Amino acid sequence: MTGNFGIYLHIPFCSHRCDYCAFATWTDRHHLIEPYLLACKKQAQTISSEVPEITSVFVGGGTPNLVPATELMAIFEDLPLAPNVEFTVECNPDKVTEDQMRIYFQSGVTRISMGVQSMIPEVLESLGREHNPQNVAAAVGHIRSAGFKKLNLDLIYGAAGETMEQWQKSLEAALQLGPDHISAYALTVEAGTPLAEDPDRHPDDDVQADKYVMADEMLSSQHYENYEISNWALADNQCQHNHLYWSQGEYLGLGVAAHSHIAGRRFWSVRTPERFIKAIESGDSTEAGTETLNKEDWKLEGLQLAIRTSNGVPSEVVPESVAHLVEQAGPGHVRLNQAGRLLANEVAVRIEPSQSKPS
Ligand SMILES: C[S@@+](CC[C@H](N)C(=O)[O-])C[C@H]1O[C@@H](n2cnc3c(N)ncnc32)[C@H](O)[C@@H]1O
Ligand code: SF4
Repeated sequence: MTGNFGIYLHIPFCSHRCDYCAFATWTDRHHLIEPYLLACKKQAQTISSEVPEITSVFVGGGTPNLVPATELMAIFEDLPLAPNVEFTVECNPDKVTEDQMRIYFQSGVTRISMGVQSMIPEVLESLGREHNPQNVAAAVGHIRSAGFKKLNLDLIYGAAGETMEQWQKSLEAALQLGPDHISAYALTVEAGTPLAEDPDRHPDDDVQADKYVMADEMLSSQHYENYEISNWALADNQCQHNHLYWSQGEYLGLGVAAHSHIAGRRFWSVRTPERFIKAIESGDSTEAGTETLNKEDWKLEGLQLAIRTSNGVPSEVVPESVAHLVEQAGPGHVRLNQAGRLLANEVAVRIEPSQSKPS
């Protein structure tokens, strides 16, 4: 536990659906944006007196910067945000405007996370993205002139036809933009997406591993420290909200398809904006499901999350069979080495919680 408390808000609207994406988002329901934001504000008001001081906020999507900035920011007016809150809004580059960034900054947003994916036009096209590298450069200009110091760029490697050279150029161009944080994700084939239906475009595991190694080498040589398998940051710029998830901390999800964890109980909200708006308007619960892990499962899950981070796990829970995939992380702790990060799931399933010393 970190003692911190986070809020996640989900904005389920996009102007176009990328064919690899399985997130809860809709392109044909923009008429619901206004009632949805009002419903989220009402939900925030309802919980405002029940939550502790909020140390991190993450507004994710979907495309949060597709919706009106003032109405989006109004959702947070009644919440007890800590004076030094980390407040991130996820943005699509082609929807970033100067006014919007100014409104976010003046409303207390401290960090922008932008879905860049690639800096190569053909690769963006292959991923089915709507933006181009010029949009990204213009967006970064607006973000910086509004006053933002903290900027994450999301990248995806493994689009059909992407060469090693293109991936290297993408990383170089992203670094040129001066982010303090980079998330680089292996393209994942999600069930039910158009990408899943098209095996010719599925990435090759060996090529993906080479691209991961390339990213890790380039980023670490520029002082970006890998602090979770897919996340690198300059010193003091790790995402605190991410850490909350990885350390089994407490957070509350607002809006649709949002997950929460309070006092050992996990719960998640309904998936469609229609159901959410209706529930809020009629004063019903927005909860769609819940689970409470038993002590053993909780402990195992905690270790499986921790092994993905640079904090690592107590060395005694890692069996000899995978000892070559870890390195020292501090007194009595080990973390995955680069080869281990490529095989993280194999290591995670071999963790032996029963070996851990009582804390
Ligand atoms: C939920 S998306 C929202 C961000 C924003 N709408 C965008 O696409 O730019 C957050 C990030 O998840 C990553 N992502 C989404 N689907 C993915 C997939 N199938 N494989 C790998 N990364 C994915 C992308 O890097 C994306 O920026
Ligand atoms: S990847 Fe981002 S922009 Fe594309 S559909 Fe998913 S949430 Fe929307």
